[in-house]
Amino acid sequence: MEIHIDLTGTRGHRAAIYRQLRAAILDGRIRPGEALPPTRELAQRLAVSRTTVSAAYDRLTAEGFLTGRVGAGTFVTASAAARPEPSHVSGVRPLPEWDAVPPPPAPFAPAPEFDFRPGVPDLTRFPFDTWRRLVTQRLRAGQADLMTYGDPQGHAALRAEIARHAGVSRDVRASAARVVVTAGAQQTTDLVARVLLRHGDLAAVEDPGYPPPRLVLEARGVRVAPVPVDAEGIVVGAIPAGTRLVYVTPSHQYPLGLSMSLARRLELLDWAERADAVLVEDDYDTEFRYTGRPLEPLHSLDSRGRVVYVGSFSKVLSPALRLGFLVAPPSLVPALVKARYLTDWHAPNVEQAALAAFMAEGGFARHIRRMRKVYRERHELLSAVLARDFADFLTPLPSTAGLHLSAAAGTDTRPLVRAARRHGIRLYALGDFAVAGPRHGLVFGYGAVAAERIEPGLARLRALVDGGTA
Ligand SMILES: Cc1ncc(COP(=O)(O)O)c(C=O)c1O
Repeated sequence: MEIHIDLTGTRGHRAAIYRQLRAAILDGRIRPGEALPPTRELAQRLAVSRTTVSAAYDRLTAEGFLTGRVGAGTFVTASAAARPEPSHVSGVRPLPEWDAVPPPPAPFAPAPEFDFRPGVPDLTRFPFDTWRRLVTQRLRAGQADLMTYGDPQGHAALRAEIARHAGVSRDVRASAARVVVTAGAQQTTDLVARVLLRHGDLAAVEDPGYPPPRLVLEARGVRVAPVPVDAEGIVVGAIPAGTRLVYVTPSHQYPLGLSMSLARRLELLDWAERADAVLVEDDYDTEFRYTGRPLEPLHSLDSRGRVVYVGSFSKVLSPALRLGFLVAPPSLVPALVKARYLTDWHAPNVEQAALAAFMAEGGFARHIRRMRKVYRERHELLSAVLARDFADFLTPLPSTAGLHLSAAAGTDTRPLVRAARRHGIRLYALGDFAVAGPRHGLVFGYGAVAAERIEPGLARLRALVDGGTA
C-alpha cells in the first residue's frame, strides 16, 4: 500500500510519521487488517533512518493502533477503527446561516415502487444514442478549443440556440448577448443575489414555494419574506416594503401548479418598478404545456428591465447535465458574467457544444414534442383518477403544464405521505413547501412514474386513506 506521508518542512520526522499514520488509521484511509510497509522500505522511501520509522511504529503499537506478527509484518488492529473520530470541538465553524440549511437530498436513493416525486423527467427516455453521437463527434473532431477555458457567459453557439428556442417556444425575445448559460436554474438566484444584494437586504419568495432559492438567499445572509400565493399568484400587496428581489414561478407555480393571472403579472411588474426591485422569473418546466395558450412571461411584458428570466434543461433533458440559462436585462449581464466567472468559471464546453448541435439539428424540439405527448397522457390519467377516486378527499388545483399537479386537502397530509413512503409510494405534501402558512394537500409528480403505474399507485394510496392514515 502507498501511504502518503509528507515530511516537507517538518523537523521532527518521527512525530510527523506517527501523526500522519495515526490520522490515516482514524479516518479509515488505512483499514483494520491492512499491513503497513516494512520499516526498511518506508525509511528508504522517506529518506529517513529506519530507527525513525520503527520508533513511530512502536508508539502506534503501544497505543493499540498496530500489532506486529513475527515474520508477517505490522498490521492495523481491528479495534483501531472503532475509535471515535476526534470531535474537533473548537475547530473552524461555518457562519450560523449555514446551520439552518438542510443537508442536500441523498443522490442515489433507490426508486420506490410508485414514484410521484415532482421535478424529475422520465430519464429512461433520455435520447442516449443521439447524445452519445453528439458528444463523440465533438471529441473525435479533436477540437482543442473545447478543451481549454471557455466563455463564462456560455458557449456562443449554445447561447444563440437558447435565444432562438426561448423566442420561439416562450416568446422571450432576446439576443444571445443577453443569455448567460448557467449550471441549472438553481444557480441563477445565487448569481443575481451576488450582484444585487448585500448581507441583511430583503428578498421575497412565494409561500408555498420551491425551497432552494430561499435557502440560497438565506445562506448569503439575505432576509427572506415568505409571501402568500392565492389563486392568481403571489399576493403583491403582501410583499414587504424594502424588498429588493422577488423569486416567482409564474408559468407553473411550484408547488401549486397554478398559472399567475395576467392582471397579477402586470401588478407585480408595476410594483417592481416602484420598488426598484428585480424579479427572478423561474420558468423551469413549461416546455410541456397541455391545454390553453400560455400567458406571456413577465420577461416579455416587462419594458423596464426588471426581470431575469430563468430556463432549465433539467426537465426537458436531464438534471444531471447541470445546464440552464438566464436572460437578463442588458444592465445586469456584465456583472452576472463576472459572477459566473468568479464562482466556477463556466459550464463544461463539450456538453454545451453537444447541446447546441442537438438544438441546431432539430433533435431538441423533436424530443420536447415526443415527451409532451408522454407527459400529457400521464397528466390526463392522473387528473382523471384523482377526480374519480379522491373527490371526497382532494380538490385538484388547475394545472396545464409541467411535470406535476397538486391537490388541496382539508387536513394535514403529512402523516399520509409518511405512511405512503413506508408502503412504496413517494409523494410530497404541500405542507413540505410551506414556510409560514399551513397548506394541506398533495403534490403529484408524473415525470418519474410510468403511465401504467399511476392507477395502481393511486389505488394503494386510496387504501391508505381508507385505512385511516389520512
Ligand atoms: C421550481 C424549480 N426551479 C428550479 C429547479 C431546479 O432546476 P435546475 O436543475 O435547472 O437547477 C427545480 C427542480 O426541481 C424546480 O422545481
